[in-house]
Amino acid sequence: MLKDKKILLGITGGIAAYKAVELASRLTSAGAAVKTIMTAHACEFIRPLTLKSITHQPVITAYFDQNADIEHISLADWADILVVAPATANIIGKTAGGIADDLLSTTLLAVKAPVLFVPSMNVHMYDNPLVKRNIEILSSLGYQFLEPTTGSLACGYQGKGRYPENQEIIFNLQTLLHYKKDLRDKKVLITAGATRENIDPMRFITNNSSGLMGLSLARAAYFRGAEVSLITAHTSLLIPYYLKNVTANSAEDMYHAVTDIADHFDLIFMTAAVSDYTPAQPSAQKIKKGQDMDLKLKRTRDILENLGNNKPTRQTLVGFAAESENIVANAREKLTRKKLDFIVANDISVSGKNDTTVNVLSSNNQKQMNGDKFLVAHQILDFILYG
Ligand SMILES: Cc1cc2nc3c(=O)[nH]c(=O)nc-3n(C[C@H](O)[C@H](O)[C@H](O)COP(=O)(O)O)c2cc1C
Repeated sequence: MLKDKKILLGITGGIAAYKAVELASRLTSAGAAVKTIMTAHACEFIRPLTLKSITHQPVITAYFDQNADIEHISLADWADILVVAPATANIIGKTAGGIADDLLSTTLLAVKAPVLFVPSMNVHMYDNPLVKRNIEILSSLGYQFLEPTTGSLACGYQGKGRYPENQEIIFNLQTLLHYKKDLRDKKVLITAGATRENIDPMRFITNNSSGLMGLSLARAAYFRGAEVSLITAHTSLLIPYYLKNVTANSAEDMYHAVTDIADHFDLIFMTAAVSDYTPAQPSAQKIKKGQDMDLKLKRTRDILENLGNNKPTRQTLVGFAAESENIVANAREKLTRKKLDFIVANDISVSGKNDTTVNVLSSNNQKQMNGDKFLVAHQILDFILYG
């Protein structure tokens, strides 16, 4: 998704400037051409030579550099996208005020391509009403922001202001480069992960779902402008910090978590792998080792069928089916029986950890998709929105 894309990276004078080196490296490895503008203060934190050696592209640090062979706004015309990472309170304020007193701020005013700011600063700076106001002004004008994470800050404080994982910046850039904000004002509910059905306090029945497909859909929908709510069963993956998430351990927990709020959503993806069976009589105490034993199972409640039967007319309901045989036929039968708008049938015999092969079906259409799960997530959204 980044191959041959022209990415202009603006680095400003924040403590997280060193993390932009890894970002430049990953973008370059993914096949993008990365040119860098560093502010004078950024050069106090990291050396331009590091960026030049990694990107094999020009790194411009001075406004009036006679040797740079770059006209003052030519980089603005060159870029497919401009990402400022990390973005100081200063560069955000200057841009909001229309100030152009160095190469990066001038380029920010001249650029026509999308701009993504990755603010990173002390928690009190980020909370400052002036900084908040500047972010609001720029957001209302179409500039994009990836909010910082919460945690320990270099200044010794705890709070919101940390530079996020570079992978999250990359997901955001990939989306901005290829897709519109076509889910703006849509409320999207996504379930992800594998439920656990307790046999006793130590043991449970579960399945192989990693949760990555659901999280990929959640990221893709969020970066396309949706208001996303996640309900996660078990996953060992990190939940994207910018999403609302509640956890639901078992099929019964998931049933309540979903059905309690489903009415409020325009689009629902039931991606979680919910157990079809649960122990009929889970033991309150750990079961002692003894003779062979039979474990009696009972059916869990069918969440998807319940949603299909009670679906508001404006709602689009998408089910998932992990299949190992007769993939399309089984999925089509489930689509009709559960009154779904779409079903995504996942061929578990060929799908891997990061890549997947799916068939997406509606009542009158069908498409096969395969590849990286984040890319497939976007393709599923495209199919739902545009057929
Ligand atoms: C050690 C140190 C760390 C700093 N870290 C940050 C930071 O993380 N975020 C921020 O907005 N400003 C930070 N500043 C302040 C900026 O460097 C200062 O506002 C500067 O004018 C930014 O210039 P620039 O935006 O042109 O790069 C830091 C300053 C110092 C001395």
